[in-house]
Amino acid sequence: MTTELIKTVGVLGAGTMGNGIAHVFARAGFRVILRDVEKRFLDRGLETINKNLEREVKKGKLSEDDVPVVVARIKPTTEMAALAEADFVVEAVPEQLELKVRVLKEADAALKPGTILASNTSSISITQLAAQTSRPERFIGMHFMNPVPVMELVEVIRGLATSDETFHATMILCEGLGKKPVAVNDAPGFVSNRVLMPLINEAAFCVMEGVATPESVDAVMELGMNHPMGPLELADFIGLDVCVEILDVLHKGFGDPKYRACPLLRKYVAAGWLGRKSGRGFYKYA
Ligand SMILES: NC(=O)c1ccc[n+]([C@@H]2O[C@H](COP(=O)([O-])OP(=O)(O)OC[C@H]3O[C@@H](n4cnc5c(N)ncnc54)[C@H](O)[C@@H]3O)[C@@H](O)[C@H]2O)c1
Repeated sequence: MTTELIKTVGVLGAGTMGNGIAHVFARAGFRVILRDVEKRFLDRGLETINKNLEREVKKGKLSEDDVPVVVARIKPTTEMAALAEADFVVEAVPEQLELKVRVLKEADAALKPGTILASNTSSISITQLAAQTSRPERFIGMHFMNPVPVMELVEVIRGLATSDETFHATMILCEGLGKKPVAVNDAPGFVSNRVLMPLINEAAFCVMEGVATPESVDAVMELGMNHPMGPLELADFIGLDVCVEILDVLHKGFGDPKYRACPLLRKYVAAGWLGRKSGRGFYKYA
């Protein structure tokens, strides 16, 4: 599948990342088939897309007239069979190995033979996911950053069997979305989360051990290291459940205790304090 032949893009999952991915593809002119398991998740995703497009209008990045045109390119569906029309598919379902394997197998069976299947996983092995499908050479990691419409980076991860054709098509596709793709090889957490998650984890340990409050930890990193956002505010933004899941993948993947998730992170997740999305994490949100 060469990039010129990619006209229709399937997105699996209309959550935080899936609706952002659908947004950027539709804005770039692609037809998008957005699939989630229930209509209410699709409605919520489309509502977010509308809100974020309006935000882009206010920033002067898009004209008001473009909003309905972009939205009309997105076809919401609960049917996996609808993906049969897609030339390229990005999976963005929750970061759970068994769920991803099940969804990818279902998608693999529904897709045309030439369609490239990409996963937005933050940390699960692309090689392992690819091996569960009938198209390991047309399988790749396409790790968008949150919020997708704003962040420039896409970490493009080659699995062991990913073909050069799939890799080049994906890199060109990212550029067509106005993104900056960076190629990395398949290893737990890739580069982004292997470096970021230990930082967030250590910040959580500082709070748990009473070294400093979340505000102080974040202030040190913002004012002293010039980070635009402190690690705990960022963790709330990503979702504390997502952070714990990624740390578990790093811990298991490397077998190194330095990746052990901070017990305070686990406690917050157990309490339902998942960060921004649940209204409370290290901080409270209105
Ligand atoms: N949140 C982040 O900051 C971030 C950043 C980069 C990558 N990621 C990765 O993106 C992926 C999605 O994360 P998210 O934060 O968007 O999760 P999310 O929970 O916000 O959204 C996941 C969506 O997938 C849907 N879903 C579940 N089963 C499905 C199925 N069988 N078919 C289709 N949809 C299904 C859910 O209903 C939900 O709407 C994960 O792999 C995560 O690691 C997340």
